[in-house]
Parts: sequence; C-alpha cells; structure tokens
Amino acid sequence: MLEGKEIVLGVCGGIAAYKAAELVRLYVKAGARVSVVMTAAAREFVTPLTFQALSGRPVFLELFNLVQEQQIGHISLADRADLLVVAPATANLLGKMVAGIADDLLTTTAMACKAPRLLVPAMNSNMWEDPICRRNVAQLREFGVQIMEPATGMLACGWEGQGKMPEPQAILDLTRSLLGPRDLVGETLLVTAGPTREELDPMRFLSNHSTGRMGYAIARAAAERGARVRLVSGPVERPAPAGVELHCVISAREMHARVMALVKDCSMVFKTAAVADFRPAFRHPQKLKKGQEPSLVLELRRNPDILAELGRLPGDRLLVGFAAETEHLGEHARRKLEEKNLDLIVANDLTVEGAGFGVETNVVRLIYRDGTEEELPQMSKDQLAHQLLDRALKLGKTGTSQ
Ligand code: CTP
Repeated sequence: MLEGKEIVLGVCGGIAAYKAAELVRLYVKAGARVSVVMTAAAREFVTPLTFQALSGRPVFLELFNLVQEQQIGHISLADRADLLVVAPATANLLGKMVAGIADDLLTTTAMACKAPRLLVPAMNSNMWEDPICRRNVAQLREFGVQIMEPATGMLACGWEGQGKMPEPQAILDLTRSLLGPRDLVGETLLVTAGPTREELDPMRFLSNHSTGRMGYAIARAAAERGARVRLVSGPVERPAPAGVELHCVISAREMHARVMALVKDCSMVFKTAAVADFRPAFRHPQKLKKGQEPSLVLELRRNPDILAELGRLPGDRLLVGFAAETEHLGEHARRKLEEKNLDLIVANDLTVEGAGFGVETNVVRLIYRDGTEEELPQMSKDQLAHQLLDRALKLGKTGTSQ
C-alpha cells in the first residue's frame, strides 16, 4: 500500500521521539520513502544518525542549509510529500501551526505542503486538556489537518491520562488509510476472526490454533479503504485495528448471537473465524476432578453453523467463507461453498508451508459460485486481505469473478 510513497516525517522534541524511529522502520518496511525533518528540540532526545540509518536518507535539520538549499529545502520537501506526518507533535508545534508561524524547517515545510497532513500529538495530559490546546486542535481540524487522538496510559512525566503517542503500528494503519484507495466508502463489512472457546469447566476449554491474523488483516484493510467495519472476534492477543468496531466474544454461541444482531445492514461478510463445531454437552460449574477412572468420555453438542445460517438469510449481501483443510482441498471447499450458499470461498491447505494458522503468510485457492477457480501465490496476510477485498468489490459490482 505504501510502495513508492513519499512520506515527510517531522519529529518534534518530546520523549516519544524515540518511538518515531520505529515508525520510520515500519514505513520503510511497507515500501515508503521517508525524509525525516527534526526540530532542534528533537535532537535533544534522538540523534539524526538514528533516523538517517533507518530511512537511508539524509536527515533535514536546518531552514538555511548551504548544501541542501540549492533546491530551497522546505519547498522541495513540501513538494515531494505524498503525506506529511509529524510524530510526535508537541503543543508548541500545534500552536505555531494554528498561528501561522513558520520559523524553522518543519513549520515552513508544514505550511508549504499541499499533501494531506497528519499530526500525532504527544504531551502531558494537562497540556492536552488545556483549553488553548483543545482550541488549537479543533481549529487545525477545521483547516483539514488530520489529528490522531493520543492514547491514554502512564505518561513519561509520571501522570496517568491521555497524551501518549499511539503505537507506531496504529500510526502506520492510519497512514495507509490516508494514502490508499477509498473504494469501500459506503460499504459495511462484518468480519469474524479468531477461534472460539468452548468451556468444559471454569479452568478448561476446547478450541483451535486460530490466531485471528487473517480476519484482523481483512478488517484493517477494509477500514483503510473507507469501509465501516464490524469485527466479531474470538479470544486473540491482538489490538483492534484503527477505525474498526470490535465486538469480543468467547464461544461459538456468543459469536452466533452477535453476528446475527449485527449482520442486517452489512453489504459484505467475511467469515474468517475458526468456529468450534462442537461444545461440551455440559459445562461443569466447578473444576472437574479426575477421580479413579482410567479414561474419560466427553459428550459434545453441535454448535450452530453461523455461515450456513447467514447463507439462508434473505438479502443480496456478499458472503465470503473460509475453508481450512488438510486433504481434498477443492472438493471440501466446493461442498462448503454450495451448502452454505456462498459467493466465494477462500480455501487453504494447512499442510502447505507458509499457509494456515499462526503464520504471517497464506497460500490460498479462491473458488467462486460460478465455478471459476483462482490459485493465488504465497503472500502476506495483509496483501491477501487487499486482494480479497478487490475480488469482493468486483463481485459486488458485476456479479461475476471475471
Ligand atoms: N463456520 C461457521 N460456523 C460453524 C462452523 C464454520 O460460521 N459452526 C464457517 C467458518 O467461519 C468458515 C466456514 O464456515 O468460514 C468453513 O468452516 P470450516 O471449519 O472449514 O468448515 P465446517 O463447515 O466446520 O466443516 P468441517 O468441520 O466438516 O470441515
């Protein structure tokens, strides 16, 4: 998504400046070209060499620089930017931008920049809540400057409150949505992700190896492209992607109830979750003791098949199912596509290297309702998420995979 994009990253003087180094690394990894501009105060916290090494480019420091000034530094920086990001942005920078003060390289570049501008403030919570700062934030937003809300937590100054710089991954997600195509505006997606847990007693449960990575990637990619996204997730260790409405559930029956309550006005459903087909017939209220028996037989009950039920609902929403198989991939997936009345099924063979649960990549075969099949090469789950959204958009518009 960021391949070839020019990002000018301004770094102000705040303790969060060290996190900007990680942000540069993530931008470069995502394919962007990054030019870092540091204020004088930023250099008190991190050295330019750190940013130079991570971006692979010289770092811009001075407004009047005899070598760089052949091109009038602030203008050429402003012109080259597809996006200007300032992270961390101090209260001082917000105030200067609102007042139209341009007295160093970063503020002049920010004023000369016609590309979208994203500020990521980080400061003490009392400063963030101060009415002058609130007014500045509101005015900058009115001028069309994007301002990311600071996170809440323990601040470097010892205070607890809002003012922390969000994690670099969250800034990367927002950057992608500012630079990527907005072709899903107007769509409402329901995505399910992760495993379900079926409790046997207060200590034990039945579950599977799903980590939610594929479903979260789809939810994130769709939000980046402008969709409204409802993510119904089983228990996984991942933060909600930026801009996504997260609904946490534990069991298959909870997932079923939540999905049915949310699906009505959704135009697309991606049923990525690995739902447990069975649950223990009886949940013991106390810890089950082992007793003397050499073996234990568990009685299981069928859980509702959520996707099959969605396939029977009236309406013309697009239904995408997933099939993880260990044998007869095409045959099993085609049967599921038909039985659950799907538009598309994403089939992956768990025995193939680089596919399935807990890995960064996936290798899948797409099978469409009209019988067409498409083998996709191994790719990251983020890339696959975008490819699936491309296909879904095309299916939704033309009704065919061709
Ligand atoms: N699914 C569902 N509810 C269930 C079981 C599965 O919604 N109780 C959905 C999954 O989210 C997935 C698709 O159905 O999109 C296929 O799931 P999978 O576990 O591969 O297949 P099953 O239908 O459970 O069939 P089997 O266990 O025979 O492979």
